Amino acid sequence: MQHNIQFEINDNIQSSKSIIYILNSIEDINTDILSTAEIEYVKRRVDDDDYEPELVTTDGCKFILINKELEDADELNEKTRRQAFKILKKLRSGNITSVTLITSINKSQTLAFIEGLLLSSYTFNKYKSEQKDTNPIKVVINAKQISRKDLDTVVNVAEGVFIARNLVNEPGNSLNALKLSAIIEELGKKHNFAVTTLHQKEIEAEKMGGLLGVNQGSVTPPTFTILEWKHPQATAKPTVIIGKGVTFDTGGINLKVQPGSLDDMKSDMAGAAAVVGTFVAAATNNLPIHLIGLIPATDNRPGKEALVPGDVITMHDGTTVEIMNTDAEGRLILADAISYAKKYDPQLIMELSTLTGSTVMTLSDQGIAAMGTADKETFNRLEQTGDQTHERIAHFPFWSEYGEMIKSDIADLKNIGGREAGAITAGKFLSHFTTYPFIHLDIAGVAFARKDNGYKGNGASGSGVRLFHRFLSSAKNND
Ligand code: BES
Ligand code: ZN
Ligand code: ZN
Repeated sequence: MQHNIQFEINDNIQSSKSIIYILNSIEDINTDILSTAEIEYVKRRVDDDDYEPELVTTDGCKFILINKELEDADELNEKTRRQAFKILKKLRSGNITSVTLITSINKSQTLAFIEGLLLSSYTFNKYKSEQKDTNPIKVVINAKQISRKDLDTVVNVAEGVFIARNLVNEPGNSLNALKLSAIIEELGKKHNFAVTTLHQKEIEAEKMGGLLGVNQGSVTPPTFTILEWKHPQATAKPTVIIGKGVTFDTGGINLKVQPGSLDDMKSDMAGAAAVVGTFVAAATNNLPIHLIGLIPATDNRPGKEALVPGDVITMHDGTTVEIMNTDAEGRLILADAISYAKKYDPQLIMELSTLTGSTVMTLSDQGIAAMGTADKETFNRLEQTGDQTHERIAHFPFWSEYGEMIKSDIADLKNIGGREAGAITAGKFLSHFTTYPFIHLDIAGVAFARKDNGYKGNGASGSGVRLFHRFLSSAKNND
């Protein structure tokens, strides 16, 4: 575990030098915990916009967070995660290695704070020659609403997020398709979910023309990894989650030539990483569900055999596709996975990918584009989960007219629809390959940030893991 924070649950308030004190209202302040002068200070300052919840004392630090009236629960939880980020930074800079967390707030806000601390503690420094040791921080939790199990659940989800972030942050010259599938196999053994990898020959036998086509320009063979977690008590049909595993996207023959557009393309397997992270979280938390994961993986390169515009390929389900742009490769490998999913007779297919620049243009880094054929209730539940986890969902229209834009003159489909509504025509392309309830989630805007991004992390965010874990935790899992 990379988080370097140890939690301990302790019912007795111990006199600790450093405390984090989170309250519903200023009226809840306990005079045993703060001195009269401290209480006076907090009371005077708390309503000011620039109130910083930090009191520095001679031998420690006290953070006093107080909720304002009538805050929306989801927004409050998000604010709390962000506060956790700031507080962790201060604990680290103050070299504080032990702190007591005391709260009178509800369980979900307390867990949001703990989650914020954990997620903020992630670093990716395996390629730094100088390995800086960060001191472990011990957090003693004094909050009656939190059980050991609640805590473990959050820690396990954070572990899933970290695994996803690690995979995405790993450079393309280290993480190719073979390596990705090998890592997933290891994780399956460690966390007790089943993993099978289809290699070149088997992928050919399955006639996955999309995955094979994109791989033609590569020097590394493709892989197609199948993950399965089945709790003995899960009797409902499985949910299939599919992640785009393009380990590096050069654009292929339609090389990415816009300045900067290649820079972060090692993150083009963030969908795959989120699927893997979700499996780790689901298995370690022993979720009572039946979950299948499918990860088609390859890099997209302009090697001498690479696809060129005008080529026609035949997909896993027999659909023919005219390649109009080799940079629209994600949908080709995903379509094969989506059609492969029918053998599981799933209740729902959810697919996650860094699919289009169009989504980035529309939503920036603020949310995930969602679209598809699943029913309203499922979409509503996903949107609600998005608000709760702050992995927010924007539900895009999916009108049939958008499907007309990807019809080819000479084949069944073409792989791009033109400049307009690019995120939606990409989704339409994918939904052609299944008749099962389907949701496409485009995480191109949120998967990777080359900037300070708070608890969501610099570089990879691990987007999708918390969303999926929470969504699957509330799913109907029995007939
Ligand atoms: N991997 C890219 C999408 C992407 C762009 C992800 C920016 C993250 C950040 C995808 O394969 C791609 O190149 N899409 C093209 C499609 C176009 C050729 C129709 C795009 O969106 O520009
Ligand atoms: Zn591309
Ligand atoms: Zn791509």
